[in-house]
Amino acid sequence: MSRNQGPVGIIDPSQLFRPEKVYDGKPVDAFRDYAIDDSDPIRRRVRLTYYDMHTNQTVDFVKKKMDKWLKFNTFKSTVKDALIKLNELLDESDPDSDLPNIVHAFQTAERIRQEHPDKEWMHLVGLIHDVGKVMAFFGEPQWCVVGDTFPVGCKWGSTIVYGDDSFKDNPDTYNPKYNTECGMYEPQCGLENLMMSWGHDEYLYRMLVHNKCKFPKDGLYMIRYHSFYPWHAGGDYQHLLKETDKEIMEAVHEFNKYDLYTKSAGVPDIDALWPYYDKLIEKYMPGVLDW
Ligand SMILES: [Fe+2]
Ligand SMILES: [Fe+2]
Repeated sequence: MSRNQGPVGIIDPSQLFRPEKVYDGKPVDAFRDYAIDDSDPIRRRVRLTYYDMHTNQTVDFVKKKMDKWLKFNTFKSTVKDALIKLNELLDESDPDSDLPNIVHAFQTAERIRQEHPDKEWMHLVGLIHDVGKVMAFFGEPQWCVVGDTFPVGCKWGSTIVYGDDSFKDNPDTYNPKYNTECGMYEPQCGLENLMMSWGHDEYLYRMLVHNKCKFPKDGLYMIRYHSFYPWHAGGDYQHLLKETDKEIMEAVHEFNKYDLYTKSAGVPDIDALWPYYDKLIEKYMPGVLDW
């Protein structure tokens, strides 16, 4: 079974948006391929990043990272300067892109702009959705910054990449408080009550709220859950969701196709595009922000 597919009968919904099955010359099935092959340096890099992540992301670990990062006293920066910093970041968990993250930011934003010309807030979401990865420049290893996310404090979802083997050295795997279907949660507690593995999604979402940035709710959902593939693509965690989480899923799906399938697109002329995005930043998240 391809990693693009969830449990039997559940197909990655993001694939349904691309009936042509080829995107920018790359077949849809070729994205998010996590086959294990340590003789290939990129596959090996991706696997090791995820194994480190799945070994170390525990409830206690996430609490510690929240304690550190959610004080927003690590640095001060405009969004633009933080984005430019991403020029130096190569995401070690990504099997689909070997380009600096800022290229991916503009690829995503520009494709959204083509298909939703009237939704300027969404263009900006595309541009900044990964900027939380700046944590990697402040002492965080990539395995707690990049990659897919999943809830801690309950049984690991069945469609998490690399599966149970990658969690065999995680102490929470053996903790009866956390290793049942619901673990530390109530059934149907809702997506927003899950404690997610620490990474750039949750950090950026919280940072935008802290700095009173003016995105609509859907924009904030897109940012907060875009890496939660075991839920939005795999169909895991149904027993923890509530009815209204379907609306969050719709927003995330709308965003996800641009995040994933633009990675083989050409490299945009970033200098020429900045003036348009400068204006959007000025409108939605101006000035020097607390990070
Ligand atoms: Fe991301
Ligand atoms: Fe992304």
